[in-house]
Amino acid sequence: MTAHDPWLLTPGPLTTSLTVKQAMLHDWGSRDAGFIAINNRMRKRLVDLIGGGKDFTCVPMQGSGTFAVEAMLGAFVGSKDKLLILINGAYGKRMAKICEYTRRATAILEWAEDQPVDAAKVRDALAADPAITHVAVVQCETTSGILNPIAEVSQVVAAAGRKLLIDAMSAFGALPLDAKSVTFDAVAASSNKCIEGVPGLGVVLCRISALEKTKGNAASLSLDLFEQWQNLEKTSQYRFTPPIHCIVAFDQALTEHEQEGGVAGRGGRYRNNHKILVEGMRALGFETLLPDRLQAPIIVTFHMPADPMFVFEKFYDGLRERGFVIYPGKLTVADSFRIGCIGHLGEAEMRAFLAAAKDVMAQLGVASGRPNKKAAE
Ligand SMILES: Cc1ncc(COP(=O)(O)O)c(C=O)c1O
Repeated sequence: MTAHDPWLLTPGPLTTSLTVKQAMLHDWGSRDAGFIAINNRMRKRLVDLIGGGKDFTCVPMQGSGTFAVEAMLGAFVGSKDKLLILINGAYGKRMAKICEYTRRATAILEWAEDQPVDAAKVRDALAADPAITHVAVVQCETTSGILNPIAEVSQVVAAAGRKLLIDAMSAFGALPLDAKSVTFDAVAASSNKCIEGVPGLGVVLCRISALEKTKGNAASLSLDLFEQWQNLEKTSQYRFTPPIHCIVAFDQALTEHEQEGGVAGRGGRYRNNHKILVEGMRALGFETLLPDRLQAPIIVTFHMPADPMFVFEKFYDGLRERGFVIYPGKLTVADSFRIGCIGHLGEAEMRAFLAAAKDVMAQLGVASGRPNKKAAE
């Protein structure tokens, strides 16, 4: 079934297991007791993943990850609130854009795409502007692959008496995020990244005491998180057609996540994928945008090589012919491309990818992946 599918070394959608795909080979009605039980189990498992206990609930939202982020911001940031958005890449910028659409008051703190957000600057910004009620941050900025210091940010936000909202999309399930050690009101994630489900469902894990106060805040009917939650609690039903196959596959993916050892096991495999990838690419002359200490084991940005024989589209096509899909860059600070370490792949696939990369370089006549000095600085 998967023999001819490419390996997706991208930030998502990702390669999924055969058993996750097979879970979708059935039809369910949305009122089917079997489906309702699966949906309830999925919601509980996601709360368990952050150690949320009785304080948190999972509100699924039909759509991709952005739908969950938009639903989260739309619910928790009311019309009288003000959101400080920490930006060091495209997904921070997207949160700012969402607030433009929903006309919420915002303040922005911005860093270069190769710099992590700085908790001390957040502390100063909160001290300087008492109108700020909430702070939004991206855990792993997938634009570059950088890991932001979520725990430090959460400490300064809590110390200043403000509320934290996290976009954990590309890290959720692979990097720890524990509600007992990191204080936040809500975190957004999705079905198709590190849990290795298929795309189609966003989720927001919400502190119940904060969610209870969001009634009437949403500026959108379909993205109204409070109403979605209330409907699920009261009737076990979604308000609008749920992506049933996606939810059932997500539940199967959560079983496989548990079997692999949860966040520690999944994160361990990705760290190993990342190590093999970076060592192998460096051996071919490529250079990473980020120093290792800032890099999350999710997706790696490489500088574009200096060799004029290296044409990204040809490199991409050559890899695709050999069964691997990589990703273009999304940076403004450097000409680059990205390779993901996440999804249902491991050591064998990463080594096969490196062999394919070497092969394509030879075919293109590229001697080394070394970038020109200026780009690498
Ligand atoms: C950190 C982060 N936030 C949000 C998104 C948006 O998710 P989607 O493309 O599923 O809407 C992504 C997608 O890669 C992401 O990496």
